[in-house]
Amino acid sequence: MSDFSGIPKIMREAAKILLSAENIDRSIHAKAGEQNFVTDYDVRTENMLREAFAKLLPEADMLGEESADTHQIRIAEGLTLIVDPIDGTTNFIHGCRYSAISVGVCDRGKMVYGAIYDPYMDELFRAEAGKGAFVEDRGVLTPIKVSSRKLEDSLTYFGTAPYYRDTLCRPTFTLLEKLFHITRDIRRSGSAAMDLTSIACGRGDIFFEYRLSPWDYAAGSLLITEAGGEITQLDGSPLRFDAPCSVLAGNPVALAEFRAGNYLE
Ligand code: IPD
Ligand code: CA
Ligand code: CA
Repeated sequence: MSDFSGIPKIMREAAKILLSAENIDRSIHAKAGEQNFVTDYDVRTENMLREAFAKLLPEADMLGEESADTHQIRIAEGLTLIVDPIDGTTNFIHGCRYSAISVGVCDRGKMVYGAIYDPYMDELFRAEAGKGAFVEDRGVLTPIKVSSRKLEDSLTYFGTAPYYRDTLCRPTFTLLEKLFHITRDIRRSGSAAMDLTSIACGRGDIFFEYRLSPWDYAAGSLLITEAGGEITQLDGSPLRFDAPCSVLAGNPVALAEFRAGNYLE
């Protein structure tokens, strides 16, 4: 059995790269897709994590956003660390202080561990399959669970799938408009990983995005299920970790009402 307990310490160490970043504007490079950028800090953080995880879990492969072949995502037969070194790069570039490091561990297609660290609030969310979900806030470890709010009382989180806006803008905002009318209000944070932590601890109730990549939701998906929530693709099919897909997450009460309402039509 692999021991994942050393992962959070490594994430906290890596977060020092984000917190000490200077002159971010001068470190920006364009990536494929619209308005998609990477900074030298994303790459440095991923490299540091890769080195540290190779020592901690030599038996595991690592899929990192900044070194992945996005056309052909490869998940190893055994353990794979699925890593987003900075989720919320646009926030990071603009100094919004709302970004996270996300690390999931997948064992033959199933998530077994997930951790998401928000270095600005110093909150570390983590979950291990079958052992529940927790947040560690300034040394205090607290179990977390999803809310039980009905759809009409729900806070809706969503992502704009910003790198695919030519095809996904319309479906995104069509669904958003419907949810805006039937839920309490909407939120767009700029970090899918953080959105999933918000659902997992009941700060939000339902989340959707039309296209995300495995590193955006791997860790968060386990946080959600271990916190009593549900997470699937928008059509209800299971998430996949070897290719991008849509994501729908939430508490079971709000999600049941959402599905019954046929809002995707
Ligand atoms: C992005 C963020 C954003 C979401 C995008 C993601 P990145 O990740 O999670 O909230 O809308 O779809 O790609 O590029 O900042 O790692
Ligand atoms: Ca991301
Ligand atoms: Ca990223």
